[in-house]
Amino acid sequence: MRRFTRTSLVVCGLLVLILAPSFGAETSSKDKSGTPTFSEDVLPILQRSCQTCHRPAGLNLGGMIAPMPLLTYQETRPWAKAIARVVESGEMPPWHASDDYAGVFSNERTLSDAEIETLLRWAKTGARPGDPDKAPPPLEWPSAEWSIGEPDLVLSLAEPFHVDDDLVDLNIVLAAEAVPVGVLDRDRYIVAAEYKPDTEAVHHIIGFAVTPESADRPGGFLRLPGIAPGAEPSEFPPGYGIRLPKGSKIMMQMHYHKDPGPGTEVYDQSTVAFKFADEPVQEMYVSSVGDPRKMYLPANTKDHFITQEETLAKDITIMSLLPHMHYRGAYSHYVAKLPDGTEMSFLEVPRYDFNWQTRYRFKQHLRLPAGTRLEVTMGYDNTAGNPNNPDPNAEVKWGDSTDDEMNLGFFYWAFTDASDGEGLGGRVSPFLAREEAGSSGSGD
Ligand code: HEC
Repeated sequence: MRRFTRTSLVVCGLLVLILAPSFGAETSSKDKSGTPTFSEDVLPILQRSCQTCHRPAGLNLGGMIAPMPLLTYQETRPWAKAIARVVESGEMPPWHASDDYAGVFSNERTLSDAEIETLLRWAKTGARPGDPDKAPPPLEWPSAEWSIGEPDLVLSLAEPFHVDDDLVDLNIVLAAEAVPVGVLDRDRYIVAAEYKPDTEAVHHIIGFAVTPESADRPGGFLRLPGIAPGAEPSEFPPGYGIRLPKGSKIMMQMHYHKDPGPGTEVYDQSTVAFKFADEPVQEMYVSSVGDPRKMYLPANTKDHFITQEETLAKDITIMSLLPHMHYRGAYSHYVAKLPDGTEMSFLEVPRYDFNWQTRYRFKQHLRLPAGTRLEVTMGYDNTAGNPNNPDPNAEVKWGDSTDDEMNLGFFYWAFTDASDGEGLGGRVSPFLAREEAGSSGSGD
């Protein structure tokens, strides 16, 4: 991955955001005015933009697996109209950053206008199969059980947890099985993590490490990657990892959420898999801007914005961003104000959707100098006009339940100068004069 030097960042940061080329590929349609066919025109688009989820055992996005495979003509034909509808509305492929950031994030999922046009025309003109000999060869997917590849450590909850009939919403920290002897006889660095929720009652999971040094401090757990609806497995950029300290025990903060009623009980024993770095890597951290607990939403209010801001104590490098709110979340915007006065907008999510907890991964990491002011604005819609809203008449505060709200502008980062991070241990904040807020919260 190419990096900016710090000086070029100031010059280029804005340009990257404005000028970055869209990397949606051109459609192959040979005949724009003619009738597109599955083999020649549609399948290449599905392969590029849909099949990573729409295949048997597709990406398990926090327990959300795409409902139907779109690999063959036979599988796709019945969905032609639905496909036209969801690509026209922008629902699929799911991606919520504003178009201004096209080309900025490596996990961007978008279609070009020409691709959308091709899919619409295909559906309108009888969804024809075309000549199978002209179809691209089928893509090969890793057959491995885990999409992160062969894990080094797989742990389930130590015991099945009984989610009883009456349970609606519960956050509970449960112990995972013991780490096998020898695996954590030294610090390890997590370079990828994947969760397998065991039942549909799982809403999200956050991993925590309890270390010999943190065990006796309340809230002193170290946050590990987690999983929430619509989130991809965590895979970190080469050269970085999240430290899993020697001797750690693994805990999972389970968030169960379901409709209550007779016969809805389940026993849940969810699983997490970690891949460790083989070679030395630099430690990366997850932080959020400001104090996320300072929030309040009046009842029946739309366009309610809350801005959190903080100043960097050191030069840092940001790899990815994860805005996290609950059902009333509607908007998110990350801005950096550099010490030289330059203002740089680095992610805007105009229609935040709680069901898609996307981590936006920079293609080119963002380097920010000490003294930069980070500002994260979240917008909420607490009216009946928000179809996700459980109760527009409620005044809403911070809380772990999905019906409460959160205000977490997460970012994944490392010290630009690795020596700034040496010997810190425990929880580390990039900000001036602040302890990282408590261990609760969500996201991966
Ligand atoms: C990141 C994973 C992902 C990608 C990429 C993706 N989908 Fe989906 N898709 C889903 C999931 C999950 C659902 C289930 C709907 C939901 O819960 O929102 C879905 C639902 C759908 C539906 C609606 C099914 C119904 O029951 O009405 C259609 C149609 C669809 N996708 C088409 C596409 C097409 C076409 C593409 C590519 C242009 C695409 N999807 C890309 C994950 C994905």
